[in-house]
Amino acid sequence: MFKTRITEMFNIEYPIIQGAMLWLSRAEFVAAVSNAGGLGIISSLTFPTARELRDEIRKTKSLTDKPFAVNITLLPTMRPANYEQYIDAAINEGVKIIETAGRSPEPYMKPLKDAGVKVMHKVARVKDAKAAERLGVDAVTIVGFEAAGHPGMDNVTSLVLIPIAVDAVKIPVIAGGGIGDARGFVAALALGAEGVLMGTRFMASRECPMHPKIVQWLLQAAETDTLIIERSIKNAARVAKTDFAQKVLEVEEKGTTLEELLPLVSGLRGREALEEGDINAGVIACGQVVGLIHDQPAVKELIDVIINKARLISKRLNKMSA
Ligand SMILES: Cc1cc2nc3c(=O)[nH]c(=O)nc-3n(C[C@H](O)[C@H](O)[C@H](O)COP(=O)(O)O)c2cc1C
Repeated sequence: MFKTRITEMFNIEYPIIQGAMLWLSRAEFVAAVSNAGGLGIISSLTFPTARELRDEIRKTKSLTDKPFAVNITLLPTMRPANYEQYIDAAINEGVKIIETAGRSPEPYMKPLKDAGVKVMHKVARVKDAKAAERLGVDAVTIVGFEAAGHPGMDNVTSLVLIPIAVDAVKIPVIAGGGIGDARGFVAALALGAEGVLMGTRFMASRECPMHPKIVQWLLQAAETDTLIIERSIKNAARVAKTDFAQKVLEVEEKGTTLEELLPLVSGLRGREALEEGDINAGVIACGQVVGLIHDQPAVKELIDVIINKARLISKRLNKMSA
């Protein structure tokens, strides 16, 4: 059950993918997701150099013999990233699945395809999904307005975006943004998606290397406890509604430039928050689905519960329509 083109393409048991998370998507966590039958994704930008990424890939391979992916996020950063080197490191280590996000993967498609890598590209607009399909990506992830990280500038929710994306492309669609339990999983499949991507839900799992104070914040947060920053620089980002994030918004409202804003929203500040547990050290990506999260299960338990409850939901729906 729940076999789709995504489970076949990636050779995974369940169509459940862990969203790449800067500073968090490291070997132990990624391997735990893959070992539980989902697909773990390493965040390449977590590692300052391609050599360190290579070491993390090696560590992941030592912890799982299941497939996992590497994410390449093509967005403005404080420290310039050499994407070619990251991609080479992944290819040389035999990684078979790469997720690109943030910008068109066009410059990297040839080396990726030449190496036989499956490419999934994450977008927030249907037109970008279509463009990615034309470039030859193997699957596309569409994230709605609910999503943590970058949900795009159009404010269209997953419920609307997923079926429109499914109708617009022939390649399999993975649904992201607002999915946190079996109900969201079944709903995404009902909308035509062939897999789900979850970031915020996996963030509150036991293997995710995050400070307990941030976990506590997540567990008490409501669905209204996120906000969108960086809209002024056309790089909208959904983050935890903290005093720090509200200050960033105030700075933006006064009028600011990318150069002024980047140091405030920099990943390094976010890292301090996630690792030191100081919620106001920097911005923390967080999706609206946080309102649905009240526990911190192990990754395997989280995936098993989703699959088992999804089976029950499917049975209930079958009975309703019989
Ligand atoms: C803490 C955190 C960090 C993230 N970092 C990245 C990243 O570096 N690159 C990326 O493509 N997406 C990143 N994301 C977004 C997720 O991969 C995923 O697209 C998103 O969380 C899906 O929405 P959801 O949170 O509603 O499940 C991050 C999300 C979180 C919660």
